[in-house]
Amino acid sequence: MAGGSYTVKTIEWQGDEVVMIDQRVLPLEEKYIRHTTWQEVGDSIRTMVIRGAPAIGVATAMGMALAAMQSPAGDYEALSRDLKEAADGLFATRPTAYNLGWALEQQEKIWGEPGDPDGIRASLKARSQEILEEDVAMCMAMGEHAAPLFPEGACILTHCNAGALATAGYGTALGVIRSVFKRDPTIHVFADETRPFLQGARLTAWELQQEGIPCSLITDNMSGYFFKKGEIDAVVVGSDRIAGNGDVANKIGTYTVSVLAKEHGVPFYVAAPTSTVDLGLSDGSQIPIEERDPAEVTHCGRGRVAPEGIGVRNPAFDVTPHGNVAAIITEVGVHRPPYTESLAEAKKGK
Ligand code: MRU
Repeated sequence: MAGGSYTVKTIEWQGDEVVMIDQRVLPLEEKYIRHTTWQEVGDSIRTMVIRGAPAIGVATAMGMALAAMQSPAGDYEALSRDLKEAADGLFATRPTAYNLGWALEQQEKIWGEPGDPDGIRASLKARSQEILEEDVAMCMAMGEHAAPLFPEGACILTHCNAGALATAGYGTALGVIRSVFKRDPTIHVFADETRPFLQGARLTAWELQQEGIPCSLITDNMSGYFFKKGEIDAVVVGSDRIAGNGDVANKIGTYTVSVLAKEHGVPFYVAAPTSTVDLGLSDGSQIPIEERDPAEVTHCGRGRVAPEGIGVRNPAFDVTPHGNVAAIITEVGVHRPPYTESLAEAKKGK
């Protein structure tokens, strides 16, 4: 249905269980996985059942609530020992997504202070639900701020999946596209397939199709062709972590797109909540970059495509220098260079 409402739930509480849609099998299968322990949540983050920095943040907050519920501790000291173990375990799952550490900090504000164990359990669960709701509201605000940046009938390129599935709902970059489409149904989207994990082909294409947003799926090596032909008017992507100077970590291949955009004079926008902005890092060289299983590269879908024994590198993210970024959109507004100032202001505005 064109512009229709998007109903799939990325992650939610059902009673005392955390339920996630399994993003590894979409779009061929719509399967849900139930979690009752923080270890199960950690496994789901590590294995990409749930992915996308904001969604990882929500899962982490819920994982901490599960950790409190599963702990038999009757006093604060014992509970805080169990929660520290859970926080360390969840923190180790995926290093690049800043929202993960941010969510742990949010929850630590609750369990870091001595209190009644049952009160802490209830507060952690309530805060995780709040983080989920705030995330959707932030995505919608980003969409509103960004929509006027795009010309009528724009052809917009996006990379990876920064959609409802990568957040608690609506999406960051894809939320922006949703908001633009609401105003102007003549837009067109190019979705990079995003090797090796194919988030673009599997998830972005699926989300756009669900809502009737006109989209062409392309392989990652095709965007240069379309930039050169003048067929791309703007780029919008999400981010896993933004350093204080505006350098942006996002899915591997994003940097390449930004260089092409710069070469062709096309604006390159980043949409991310302020919970992705890490003012503790002065530039992007300090952002930890996850390297993943070589099998993601040697295999495509379920089949091997490369020879046995071949050497492989598989960085999951790259860093786009701030000089390639026309604007960063957060829930606070549209931020322009110099980012050292505008991002600090944005974080203060929170
Ligand atoms: O490895 P993934 O799928 O977790 O990577 C996701 C991305 O790179 C997204 O673009 C980013 O997290 C922003 S999601 C709103």
